[in-house]
Amino acid sequence: MPDSSTPPRTIRLADYRLPDFLIDAVDLAFDLREDGATVTSRLTMRRNPATSDPAAPLVLDGQDLKLTGIALDGEALGANRYTVDAEHLTVTDLPGVFTLDITTEIAPQQNTTMQGLYTSGGNFCTQCEAEGFRHITYYLDRPDILARYTTTIVADKAKYPVLLSNGNPVETTDLGGGRHRAKWEDPFPKPSYLFALVAGDLVAVEDSFTTRSGRDIALKIFTRRGDHTKVDHAMRALKASMAWDEQVYGFEYDLDLFMIVAVSDFNMGAMENKGLNIFNTALVLASRETATDGDFQRVESVVAHEYFHNWTGNRITCRDWFQLSLKEGLTVFRDQEFSGDMNSRPVQRITDVRRLRAIQFPEDGGPIAHPIRPESYIEINNFYTPTVYEKGAEVIRMIHTLIGPERYRKGMDLYVARHDGQAATCENFVAAMEDASGTDLKLFRRWYSQAGTPEIVVEDSWDDAAGRYSLTLRQSTGPTPGQPDKQPLHIPFALGLLDAQGRDLPVRLAGEAAPAAGTRVLSLTAAEQRFDFDGLAARPVPSLFRGFSAPIKLAPQPRDRLAFLFAHDSDPFNRWEAGQQLATQLLLEGVAARKAGQDWRLDAEFVAAIGRLLDDPALDAAFIAEATALPGESFLADQMRVIDVEGIHAVREAARLAVATALRDRLLAVYRANDDHGPFDVSAAAVGKRALKNAALSYLGLLRDDAEATALVLAQARGAQTMTDVLAALTVLRDRDIPERAQVLQDFYDRWQDEPLVIDKWFALQATSSLPGTLDAIRALTRHPAFTLRNPNRARALISSLAMGNPLHFHAADGAGYAFLADQVLALNAANPQLAARILVPLGRWQRHDPGRQAAMQAQLDRILAAPDLSRDVYEIAAKSRA
Ligand code: ARG
Ligand code: ZN
Repeated sequence: MPDSSTPPRTIRLADYRLPDFLIDAVDLAFDLREDGATVTSRLTMRRNPATSDPAAPLVLDGQDLKLTGIALDGEALGANRYTVDAEHLTVTDLPGVFTLDITTEIAPQQNTTMQGLYTSGGNFCTQCEAEGFRHITYYLDRPDILARYTTTIVADKAKYPVLLSNGNPVETTDLGGGRHRAKWEDPFPKPSYLFALVAGDLVAVEDSFTTRSGRDIALKIFTRRGDHTKVDHAMRALKASMAWDEQVYGFEYDLDLFMIVAVSDFNMGAMENKGLNIFNTALVLASRETATDGDFQRVESVVAHEYFHNWTGNRITCRDWFQLSLKEGLTVFRDQEFSGDMNSRPVQRITDVRRLRAIQFPEDGGPIAHPIRPESYIEINNFYTPTVYEKGAEVIRMIHTLIGPERYRKGMDLYVARHDGQAATCENFVAAMEDASGTDLKLFRRWYSQAGTPEIVVEDSWDDAAGRYSLTLRQSTGPTPGQPDKQPLHIPFALGLLDAQGRDLPVRLAGEAAPAAGTRVLSLTAAEQRFDFDGLAARPVPSLFRGFSAPIKLAPQPRDRLAFLFAHDSDPFNRWEAGQQLATQLLLEGVAARKAGQDWRLDAEFVAAIGRLLDDPALDAAFIAEATALPGESFLADQMRVIDVEGIHAVREAARLAVATALRDRLLAVYRANDDHGPFDVSAAAVGKRALKNAALSYLGLLRDDAEATALVLAQARGAQTMTDVLAALTVLRDRDIPERAQVLQDFYDRWQDEPLVIDKWFALQATSSLPGTLDAIRALTRHPAFTLRNPNRARALISSLAMGNPLHFHAADGAGYAFLADQVLALNAANPQLAARILVPLGRWQRHDPGRQAAMQAQLDRILAAPDLSRDVYEIAAKSRA
């Protein structure tokens, strides 16, 4: 905000009020032209009998609209009856029941914000969540207003042969003069954020799905011509999601048609508009040549996510935006479980926890920490966060863990029975789970209101005479902005006890009969709590918080225990975790030694343990790939009180080189054994083989003087048949200063210049290089003809890849990385505030850097805050980050 203006208004959960009016039906008509669009809206409305003010004026939301007509019950409204300001249309003296006709002019071609109605590649599309609909017409743009929609679209027939909206098509008419009209009707009342419209020159791939009650659903995925060859995987994922949701949740699809449209300019991943999901191309299109296995998996999970929203989000929506996690946390949990069923379940869990730790833990420990149900916001778009999504999913998972799958399902059934067709709250959800399960979740509710990551310290003792083993757990959560004092949480504690051979023992609480051997879920509910276990012949080895049963940080455990679990734990997540924790301790020791100018070498025992995993025939290849990778630089940074940027990078690379050197021949053998040239598929087995082969390659690629290894990397970069393999080899070359590097990158560019999603990878790759001069290379890339800030995928590929994926250069001691990021934020502020605010977030993470870096980051935040005409989005993140 410029100094002269007041900061933008804060919206608070505590201020929620029922709406004074309700909208029963809305009839929209769009006239789409090359110079703009006319929107006419007929609202069938009445006063809300549930509110206290029977004379309240009607205050409709609207921004960037030109009002050209307004009529009440068919009569033009006199100028004394309404007022218009920058954000509202206010109408006074209204009767109890009425219709309002509103005409507005909008400029989709000029709309660079990618909210409301805009154009992408010459096609029209919409993004209305959270508050985009108010950029289309005046409306009660809040999620607790549920209305029936009909939508009529008129446009040029040759330029826009495909005209789509929510629900079912009811009519298409040739209007003559080269124009045509389509009419759509959505029988399900919905909030405005689920409205969608698409008009364009698109091709459809069609399929169908028969529901369990025998209804045939037409499925259509629309893309630009040429891209239609890359939707098989999305279509398969869609059908699998529809079947899974019937089996696991009893949810059947409710319209006769389900459509997905791929759009190349999109701020987020995808959007669950009723019957008409709109997707970022990056999350629909996938082919062996252009997409990695990781991309294939993301497509599958996001297709599922948006489809699952039809019940958790659309049929039951949110009362207000503070309840966002009601639909997002729940739907992420659902898509994670779906992906776990479709692929390797342990690797899915590892991937999800890695992600939580990489993006949510830093948020929870930083300046914009907030509970999964925030209490206030300035701009709601800033709250589509890892906390609301990923931690929100962990909270649902904890309920699932505490009450078990059968009672969880009963809770879901009750939630739907009570709230189908309504706008609900997080409290409604927890109450349904509580009532259906008979489990007291009173204390558990604190997860919804308390921010921060709990830290847990565990101590154990063994009483040989009594055969009793005891664990004492202490939990604490550090202060977060606005929440200095924290209370104990209800934490599910999944525990295994192992004997000396690594076999699971029964986890028998003192005074109980012996349960079966295996994992037991206990409840930690106090700040400090002791658990006593009986019936043990010898001191067991504990496997704590199996499967990551709660989103917590566990204090470092003894190394011999970690080494034992890394070799033996029957819980695959905890086996992986033990290796990561052990590696973290070793690497941080290395960082400290380096700082003190001492010698350090990666523990030979640890290297040997990695070697044993590499060719263990009992293990899944994908799991081995995960378990033999060292923790990432950001994760290591998150474990330090003052982050040593260069030290972490140097020590981690030295450790990787030590592994590669010691295990060179075994790595080469693993590479060869998993280098499969059979027909391509993305089955868990095939993906696992590629992952393990490329894990081996990433180590081998560090052996600079090893001609055989280097030849392998170059051959794979030039000749591999899948993007997974090509990119794995390029990722090695990215960090190697060899003559072939430039040519390989250039060849890659030349080959893929017409595939935007592949060119995004080309930019991201260079932005994440550890080579000296990377920031200069990135600056030069901003002037590359293929670079544009206007395409969010492209902007993120270069800028966020640096800020989130390249700590060494983003946090360069001279502050140049910070200045570069601030430049880009300011360049985007006006055109696309939502994206500008999102890429800015890493600048706020200055708290655990050294004083020099702190000052440099703060200086850039100040520079942003001093800029004129700051958007609300950027203002909120910058101001909170500076505080
Ligand atoms: N509801 C969408 C999802 O599936 C995300 C939409 C986010 N939109 C936004 N403007 N923040 O998660
Ligand atoms: Zn979602």
